[in-house]
Amino acid sequence: MWESKYVNQNKGDLVVAEVKIQSVTKMFGEVKAVNDFNAVIADGEFVSILGPSGCGKTTMLRMIAGFERATYGEIYIGDKLVSSSQANKFVPPEDRNIGMVFQSYAVWPHMNVFDNVAYPLKIKKYSKQQIMEKTTRALELVHLEAFSKRLPNQLSGGQQQRVALARALVGEPRLLLLDEPLSNLDAKLRESMRFEIKELQKQLGITVIYVTHDQAEAMAMSDRIIVMNQGVIQQSDMPEFVYESPANQIVADFIGLVNFIPAEVSAENIILPSINHILYSPGYRAGKALLAVRPEHIVMTTAENIGVSGTLLHKFYLGDSIDCRVAVKKEIIRVIGKASVYQHFQSGDEVTLQFEKIMVFPQD
Ligand SMILES: Nc1ncnc2c1ncn2[C@@H]1O[C@H](COP(=O)(O)OP(=O)(O)OP(=O)(O)O)[C@@H](O)[C@H]1O
Ligand SMILES: [Mg+2]
Repeated sequence: MWESKYVNQNKGDLVVAEVKIQSVTKMFGEVKAVNDFNAVIADGEFVSILGPSGCGKTTMLRMIAGFERATYGEIYIGDKLVSSSQANKFVPPEDRNIGMVFQSYAVWPHMNVFDNVAYPLKIKKYSKQQIMEKTTRALELVHLEAFSKRLPNQLSGGQQQRVALARALVGEPRLLLLDEPLSNLDAKLRESMRFEIKELQKQLGITVIYVTHDQAEAMAMSDRIIVMNQGVIQQSDMPEFVYESPANQIVADFIGLVNFIPAEVSAENIILPSINHILYSPGYRAGKALLAVRPEHIVMTTAENIGVSGTLLHKFYLGDSIDCRVAVKKEIIRVIGKASVYQHFQSGDEVTLQFEKIMVFPQD
């Protein structure tokens, strides 16, 4: 197996793959695809960039790789400045020692698996023996050693995606950039590949920047998630913080499910006119706000105790859980709970909702 840290063969010293991005902006004409992006990705860290389609994820990744030039700002890989608008410096992709799997993972159809993976080494004029050794190792890593003679059209989508991954790893990069590498796979294969990529990263000790718009994927794999919207970083935190304490309503809406209810915050209460309800909840800044409650943080009962009364409109059976829509005055509130707890509820039932955990986002 591979060493867990790569030793730079020219210098004989340990290569550190910290990535530092300072005030990076990318303009495409009038479009600001990435707007003042600042981040430090630690050596060996697994960081996801997450956000809706068109928010600038691929553009940011391509600037780190060197396929796109930042309009403003600086990018460092290790202690090396690889891109600077001010110093007018730009290190081309081939000199950045990065492995990358693109959004549309392209494997060359006319080359067999072995030649696809060996290609970057041939370009770099490695010896025949080195090519044989390194390519075999990369194929072992993605469990494709038995497929080396096959052509891509004789492989499943997941196997092709692993060929792309092996090709990104074969040059022993210190930094691996993955742009939606699992986008074309079915749910089950995605899940097993998530696990394999994560294992690979731990085993090799490399830094990974992983772009996705799939929040479950980002949550499951990352040490840290950077949430973007319209080119701007909204939050950069560990997955549990992004979910539990979203920085703003955009993040709350994008990560997990959430009900939003218009609110008026006073010294001690949160007034919810649209559902004709008042929550005693001191400590929030007074003024117009949006109350956010996740469907799994609402308890639905038939007891007529303190809470919000409503009518159960629909329930959707999801196997382990039940997803309910409850009409409360002007709002439809979504409630999700264990199937075993909610199975006896019927559409039309009068129910009471209790908000167990709330988030409040000021609107001014
Ligand atoms: N070469 C280009 N020329 C002009 N505009 C571009 C170019 N590449 C990207 N853009 C624009 O920049 C913005 C960000 O695009 P980007 O590809 O980074 O989004 P993304 O977050 O990767 O989206 P997706 O999840 O759909 O892949 C978009 O508005 C896009 O239309
Ligand atoms: Mg993209």
